[in-house]
Amino acid sequence: MYNEWKKYNRKKFLKSLERKGMQVHLITHPLILEELTRLRDKSTNRFEFRHSLRRMGELLTYELLRFGKIKKIPLVTPLGKSHGYKLEDGYVVVPVLRAGVPIAEGFNAMISSVEIAFVSCWRDKDLSVVVEYAKVPDISNKQVIIIDPMLATGHSLCAVYETLRRFGKAKSWKILAVIASPVGLKEISKSFPKGTDVFICALDDSAFGKDFLGPGLNSHGYIVPGLGDAGDRAYGSPLKLSKK
Ligand code: URA
Repeated sequence: MYNEWKKYNRKKFLKSLERKGMQVHLITHPLILEELTRLRDKSTNRFEFRHSLRRMGELLTYELLRFGKIKKIPLVTPLGKSHGYKLEDGYVVVPVLRAGVPIAEGFNAMISSVEIAFVSCWRDKDLSVVVEYAKVPDISNKQVIIIDPMLATGHSLCAVYETLRRFGKAKSWKILAVIASPVGLKEISKSFPKGTDVFICALDDSAFGKDFLGPGLNSHGYIVPGLGDAGDRAYGSPLKLSKK
């Protein structure tokens, strides 16, 4: 792994993804950077952390929908006939439990017609991924947006994608994350179809060493500097029950 990433260069790496048909949108709007700062800061408490994730959801939805198709609709104002606009496509957002939930709430606050699916995913000690729960509507011909704040190894997103594909043929796939690692981006570029758009607020690729899986990703699959365990920071650490 170390040798594979030794010559990493951000610009060249993003270009290579583009050639494979995956576009990474690094969103650096000042309001998003302010929220990112709150999320990274270890002194941000749980309530504030969830609030910032939700706000991120609203802001990222705004950015993502710059590319949204609209259709013209007739309407009547109090003074006469006019027309307005409506989003043309149906959207399904899929927060990956747990940390994707506040971001999806932000998305939901911005688009009244959005459908929400739920998928739970957890990582075993060997970083393999188990999808345990999936409640998903028909995604045929809809724009599917998978939300996971931390795109670390990319294994969760690939497992979620494999699960979602069973619920119809989506019109397009989008991924919304707060922080990504190059390892995760490379991994998902192998599984997701050409034309997949990835929206992130930061690409953590500066910390690297022999015990890292790649730039910005330590051997435990955590993004460095990242923001820690997003699920735990949003909802607290779950109690680990001993096996009977
Ligand atoms: N999931 C997290 O919550 N944080 C990381 O750094 C990586 C995966």
